[in-house]
Amino acid sequence: MRIAVFAGDGIGPEVTEQAVRVLQALEIEGMELVEGDVGGAAYRRHGHPLPEATLDIARSADAILFGAVGDFSLDHLERALRPEQAVLGLRKELGLFANLRPATVFKGLEDLSTLRPEVSGKIDLLIVRELNGDVYFGEKGTRTLEDGRRQGWDMMSYAEDEVRRIAHAGFKAAQGRSGRLCSVDKANVLETSQLWRDVMIEVSKEYPDVELTHMYVDNAAMQLVKNPGAFDVIVTGNLFGDILSDQASMCVGSIGLLASASLAEGKFGLYEPIHGSAPDIAGKGLANPMATILSAAMLLRHSFGLEEQAARIEAAVAATLADGIKGGDLGGSAGTKEIGDAVLARL
Ligand code: NAD
Ligand code: IPM
Ligand code: MN
Repeated sequence: MRIAVFAGDGIGPEVTEQAVRVLQALEIEGMELVEGDVGGAAYRRHGHPLPEATLDIARSADAILFGAVGDFSLDHLERALRPEQAVLGLRKELGLFANLRPATVFKGLEDLSTLRPEVSGKIDLLIVRELNGDVYFGEKGTRTLEDGRRQGWDMMSYAEDEVRRIAHAGFKAAQGRSGRLCSVDKANVLETSQLWRDVMIEVSKEYPDVELTHMYVDNAAMQLVKNPGAFDVIVTGNLFGDILSDQASMCVGSIGLLASASLAEGKFGLYEPIHGSAPDIAGKGLANPMATILSAAMLLRHSFGLEEQAARIEAAVAATLADGIKGGDLGGSAGTKEIGDAVLARL
């Protein structure tokens, strides 16, 4: 059980430290943690956000626990050297194409949401976000047009096999839940989305037990706030999934609560909070570590089949919140370590 721990930048190391404490407290036999540098921290030390040595650690591991990367003071660098390339590079290099982002309101904690409790109380959804394609990984550049105007461009595309494999991930996830899959696209405007929709319908023939519906992404953004309880599994592309998952986090209560798993075929995965390095609160001990702690729970469940330990972590987080111990992101006053301590005490 070799787990690579890549803490990264900003609040990344702060929240990862608490998740590591929780993992260690479980005293799982054979668990070994190996640290590696990523992001701006890696750039400063090695001149690259995803050094070869880090990739080697990743490849030799059974799972990765990831904090966050991003450092505004490095945003002037050419894109290949920016901190974000660490997480993008790991996802691509390791074939982590299926990003699972669950958003569930804990029982009794409906009022953490900015939505009315009768609306938020029904939230139990899973966003299955494609992670290796779309406008993220297409050709891109800036150029000067003949008339002298500067132009930036990014190519959006999906090949059918890329859509097919995330479709299967979406249908399988729906089979394991309530059997409803909503594919979110922008097929009324984008060719990329039309192909996406066509392939979703083709793949649906293999899953007669799952009900497939389609929704345009603008409507989905609206419905997520109006009636989030109507969603079960959402399958969508890289960009739309990025945006909708941040939105879903607020429907639950805070971006500091949402965990994620980025999976290849098989058991290997990278686990990280959906939030970033939060430079505005970094170094102050204010970050909510729960999203990272819950990501560690997903790691134990998906990569190692340790359902009981995963459930223990989730219950400890829920109990901490139920006891009113909340970070500033949820209107409370508990700091990062205090929240870590509280989760440990309830483990
Ligand atoms: P962000 O998610 O870092 O922060 C958005 C807001 O949410 C901020 O106000 C922040 O303080 C708050 N927040 C985030 N996580 C929190 C937590 N655990 N507890 C309490 N509050 C929290 O997004 P941003 O500000 O747009 O981006 C900051 C940097 O992070 C950028 O460089 C961006 O590229 C990067 N980023 C990285 C990842 C990743 O590593 N996977 C994800 C998103 C953003
Ligand atoms: C996320 C982040 C990343 C993304 C960035 C940092 C590249 O926003 O993990 O959600 O857009 O995928
Ligand atoms: Mn994001």
